[in-house]
Amino acid sequence: MVEEQVLVATVPPMRVGYVQFAPEFGEVERNLDRVADLLSRDRADLWVLPELFSTGYQFATAQELAELAEPVSEGPTTARLIALAQEMNCHIVAGLAERTDSRLYNSAVFVGPSGLVARYRKIHLFYEEKNLFAPGDLPFLVTDIGLAKVGLLVCYDHFFPEAARSLALQGAEVVAHPANLVMPGLAQLTMRVRAMENRVFTLTANRIGVEARTGETLCFTGLSQVVAPNGDVLVQAPQDAEDVRVVEIDPVQARDKHLTRLNDVFADRRPEFYGRLVG
Ligand code: ACM
Repeated sequence: MVEEQVLVATVPPMRVGYVQFAPEFGEVERNLDRVADLLSRDRADLWVLPELFSTGYQFATAQELAELAEPVSEGPTTARLIALAQEMNCHIVAGLAERTDSRLYNSAVFVGPSGLVARYRKIHLFYEEKNLFAPGDLPFLVTDIGLAKVGLLVCYDHFFPEAARSLALQGAEVVAHPANLVMPGLAQLTMRVRAMENRVFTLTANRIGVEARTGETLCFTGLSQVVAPNGDVLVQAPQDAEDVRVVEIDPVQARDKHLTRLNDVFADRRPEFYGRLVG
């Protein structure tokens, strides 16, 4: 008698990707067109674009920043991203300069076919950003898009274990991390650790190219990456070339916090010994 074999397909349920490119400073429409072209190269459920992807990074003055920044809800960059998300039936996390009535923020928007689903304002400002932007004033946020629970960080937030931990403790399975990194190798390392210590997937979309608008030259370091909950780098971009990559992941893996049979890294935490601020 021939036994019937039941084959169970184990197709990973989610495709995530990054876009790494060199935004042209101040050329918002051109950068949006470039991103639309790059996104058309593949299909993903969740894309991450770099920090400040539509404006560029090195603003010479607050006035210049104010002229390029946009309101998040009604701005043309968010509208174009929503149109792309609808066209491609996907979600997109992207960094942009946000203008409100009284402040400028280094923000990230999270859009999908239904529109704007979340926003985040960079909490840890880096270097000259402190002279331009207001620090973020919204809590770390996790959004359930059905396929995964997604948390947002922006660039230098990577240096603070508390940031990714705040997201993971709220149930984030995937951490989306738009970046404009200039210190070689640091975030590629910390984001592996953030993934490993929280047992989550991390998606860093960094930029490439050079900006030298203020007498100081900034070289952006590429090496965008997707990291698995065990710290393995699933895919990584080159240091100095445009790159669009998609990888299949199973966000359910991020719900298992076991390191060994006897160690669940969340259950093993001892917040009563960590002090008031990190408990
Ligand atoms: C950074 O936060 N843009 C390094």
